[in-house]
Amino acid sequence: MKDRKPGTEKHSSAWRRSLSKKLLVWFQQHARDLPWRQTRDLYAIWISEIMLQQTQVATVVPYFQRFLARFPDVKTLAAADEHEVLKLWEGLGYYRRARQLHAAARKITSDHRGQFPTSIDAVRSLPGIGRYTAGAILSIGLDQRLPILEANTIRLLSRLTAYRGDVNSGAGRQRLWKIAEAILPKHECGAFNQALMEVGSVICTPRSPACSECPVVALCGAHRNQLVVKIPRPAKSKNYENVTEIAVIIRRGISVLLRQCRPGERWAGLWDFPRFAAAGESNTALDRQIAKRVRDLVGLSVVANGPFVTLKHGVTRFRITLHAYEAEVKSTIGSSGDLTRSGARWVKIGALADYPLSVTGRKISRLLLSEDFTPRKRPASAAQP
Ligand code: ADE
Repeated sequence: MKDRKPGTEKHSSAWRRSLSKKLLVWFQQHARDLPWRQTRDLYAIWISEIMLQQTQVATVVPYFQRFLARFPDVKTLAAADEHEVLKLWEGLGYYRRARQLHAAARKITSDHRGQFPTSIDAVRSLPGIGRYTAGAILSIGLDQRLPILEANTIRLLSRLTAYRGDVNSGAGRQRLWKIAEAILPKHECGAFNQALMEVGSVICTPRSPACSECPVVALCGAHRNQLVVKIPRPAKSKNYENVTEIAVIIRRGISVLLRQCRPGERWAGLWDFPRFAAAGESNTALDRQIAKRVRDLVGLSVVANGPFVTLKHGVTRFRITLHAYEAEVKSTIGSSGDLTRSGARWVKIGALADYPLSVTGRKISRLLLSEDFTPRKRPASAAQP
């Protein structure tokens, strides 16, 4: 190719042919042996692609295997309780993906007689499936000639084409989708797309790409122009938000109170200890806050009984400091119906493993499980003579 300003070159058909040939040969020899690569079942490929969104391959593998063992097909998933789906998803994060997967399985059962659809429009109309996921499922499963664009291919394609614009802008994305479409070979689009992702993920890594091992280095505009470290242009740094929350561990004998998070809450569908955003600093104010917020959330009158543990956790753009406090029940204000209506229930500490919990909820539950099952001793000053 003649020397042109980086990022402006049009890629000839010879360049495209060479790219697909090199990638396909390399993929045949170097593809990692991943469980979703043993199948052409659209259902299994769909589950893998949803799990792989924002999650590393190594994390996904055991989740994928457990999920497929329990829900081997669309009908089994559609018939399951959301509680069980969320339980198998616990720890993967972004729980909306699991709820949408479940909703999509129900839609496939009602609209497509339980068969995963094979047309791009039908696939894209399922909850939780956008252009990338639809293209990945149908190209990998059926070799349909559809492009894909996700984090790894965004990096690889912007380097290959020496694209110096903002890959997160609308214009940048549009341009990269066009490239992803233009480079598709006539056949073997599934292997080609997977090869792009594989090179992007194991060779063309963000910080120290292994250019010397790259099968397409000879075709790479960024490498030729010594721009590899500058492309893709760094994203604007995220504005993290620090939040402080309180979780309340209310005990009754060997049970604790759990509450199911409502739609719209951060952990919707999951169970958690009654939790709220902290306001103010002083401890007395905190005790009053705990009593008031627990009454509002679950209709129980409690007295705060001291700190249990403080945990730090990052989720999306939030950096959460969670102070877990213990509390005792003073009285139930209404009937036990109030508890049920508020989505709360008493759960034996030994049965906490059956509930899908938030990451911090699970950490607290492990700590509770590792204690004696007897309630904690009160401080000496409060002991009866
Ligand atoms: N990331 C997203 N989809 C993937 C796939 N099918 N294989 C490897 N990494 C991926």
